[in-house]
Amino acid sequence: MKQDMIVILDLGSTENTVVARQIRDMGVYSEIHPHDITPDELKAMDNVKGIIINGGENRVVDGQAIDVDPAIYACGYPVMSVDHPTAKCEQQLTQLPDDATMRAFLFDTCKAEANWNMKNFIEDQIELVRRQVGDKKVLLALSGGVDSSVVAALLLKAIGQQLVCVHVNHGLMRKNESENVVEVFRNQLKANLIYVDATDRFLGKLENVADPEEKRKIIGGEFIRVFEEEARKLEGIDFLGQGTIYPDIIESGTKTAKCVKSHHNVGGLPEDLQFELVEPLAQLFKDEIRACGVELGLPAEMVYRQPFPGPGLGVRCLGAITRDRLEALRESDAILREEFAKAGLDKTVWQYFTVVPDFKAVGVRDNARSMGYMAVIRAVNTVDAMTATIERIDYDILERVADRITAEVPSINRVCYEITKKPVATIEFE
Ligand code: XMP
Repeated sequence: MKQDMIVILDLGSTENTVVARQIRDMGVYSEIHPHDITPDELKAMDNVKGIIINGGENRVVDGQAIDVDPAIYACGYPVMSVDHPTAKCEQQLTQLPDDATMRAFLFDTCKAEANWNMKNFIEDQIELVRRQVGDKKVLLALSGGVDSSVVAALLLKAIGQQLVCVHVNHGLMRKNESENVVEVFRNQLKANLIYVDATDRFLGKLENVADPEEKRKIIGGEFIRVFEEEARKLEGIDFLGQGTIYPDIIESGTKTAKCVKSHHNVGGLPEDLQFELVEPLAQLFKDEIRACGVELGLPAEMVYRQPFPGPGLGVRCLGAITRDRLEALRESDAILREEFAKAGLDKTVWQYFTVVPDFKAVGVRDNARSMGYMAVIRAVNTVDAMTATIERIDYDILERVADRITAEVPSINRVCYEITKKPVATIEFE
């Protein structure tokens, strides 16, 4: 292994990520693991330099205080414990270590080296994936989102043609998005990529369905079915690659270790399709995943892509989806994104898109009354997507977007700008 590691054992602290970030900021790699890790599991990680037992307010589960296996103390690693006064260890603290205390623990007590960087991380993960997978094959649903794209690039580097990517185009992708996935992964990176154009199938199922929840259910369910059909066609797949990220792991870990996902069936796939999971990014924060993508050579548009909901344009083509309105949405959204990029707003605005409601308004085109759709612009900023504020877009930019959309998308005759915060509105309309 290229990098030293400090293991944080979660004994119910809500601040494990703060500690993990503090250690990584000092140049040492850190991972959070459940409190009931066994000494064997710990020793199997061959680069551990020290352990931090991080206790806290969630330490009592179902009326019982949880604790680590006492044998952990005898494994030979320096141990620092926070909020754990009975422990027998090098250092006992009652609150989170300040930087000087942490630095002394990392570099003096544990003798760790500050060798955490993305290049070393990738090399370590490549070695771990090769160890786990051997000469077997890994299946990956490649949506084109940041996480799945970075996992794909990493697995490709680790196991090459043993990776089988499946990209399902549900017909609700943004303009050129599926084409870009094929271009980058199949044509440039030479990945083994199965491209499934399931547009007709999805749009068929969605016909006349206006209820937002019903639409979401249909899109999610159909996605699993298409992926499952592709998986069944393939022979000899033992592993499933997944873009699991750090917050998932942490959430499960703070409840009890039993909740931590290790090897389970992917959500929604039938029981008889059994795969072991490969999750090489499960220890990274979102910004680190982007840095990993850059290091792996993925294009910036892919790595810094704004969030895009799983049901895609399906929840922005409001009400019952029709092909003409979906096309109007896709084109107007592409124009908005192009103009935002030209103005540099793609670097500063968290999420921006257009929405097309399911009614027409009166307009004038070629000196005659005409009915047309409306494109609504949404541009918001947020930290965690739980609340959101409105980006104050310059009027010249808004006008340019409106002029272009109405000129280039014949079925749209009005452009509106949405100015409602979340709450009371949500970011998406459905
Ligand atoms: P709302 O509309 O709830 O959106 O304010 C908050 C954030 O979540 C995204 N979003 C989704 N992402 N699947 C996803 O992966 C979904 O079904 C979904 N619905 C909303 C939304 O784009 C925004 O960033």
